[in-house]
Amino acid sequence: MSVAVLISGRGSNLQALLDAGLPITTVISNEAEAKGLETAAARGVATRIVEHRRFSSREAFDAALAGEIDRAAPQLIALAGFMRVLTPGFVARYKERLLNIHPSLLPAFPGLRTHERVLAAGAKVHGCSVHFVTAELDHGPIVIQAAVPVRSQDTAETLAARVLRQEHVIYPRAVRWFLEDRLVIEANRVRVKGNDAQLVFAAD
Ligand code: GRF
Repeated sequence: MSVAVLISGRGSNLQALLDAGLPITTVISNEAEAKGLETAAARGVATRIVEHRRFSSREAFDAALAGEIDRAAPQLIALAGFMRVLTPGFVARYKERLLNIHPSLLPAFPGLRTHERVLAAGAKVHGCSVHFVTAELDHGPIVIQAAVPVRSQDTAETLAARVLRQEHVIYPRAVRWFLEDRLVIEANRVRVKGNDAQLVFAAD
């Protein structure tokens, strides 16, 4: 069993996956300066850089990315703060083998700057979701979610930190379920064989 993790930056979710002892064999970044590359290298995990700027189209970048992934032959590809939109062809190639972590309670707040948007909307609950990746951005079948309160004194930073703590809880859980072959996608719904809880409530 092996997992390839795709990153663009900080890599705290990558770190959580590594800390959980998951079999991550390759980390690929589209940014040469991504801090997560250092984290991976420090653990002896192979790292690759595929800079999107060097490619003239999304298709060409995704083909190079797929080349690196296929060399590593992972069962699962986990997007962890990977800030590129993937082409439908790429998504189809790894159908039901691509997971992403998104910092909102999907289907609410897909896209960027979720914490700011949650505060601006006056929402009282926020959170994060691990979902299978489909061609529609941030819309694939949801594996697990964690909900956190939005507090009146929150800033985007304090809220992001509360959500991030839960990202680090639910992402390793989802990846483990996948590797244990416990995830069943039925229409747009994901069931976990053995009925583990797919929702976490966290106060802080
Ligand atoms: C996380 O909030 C993740 O949900 C989002 O991008 C951020 C990445 O953080 N997709 P890190 O690189 O894992 O620290």
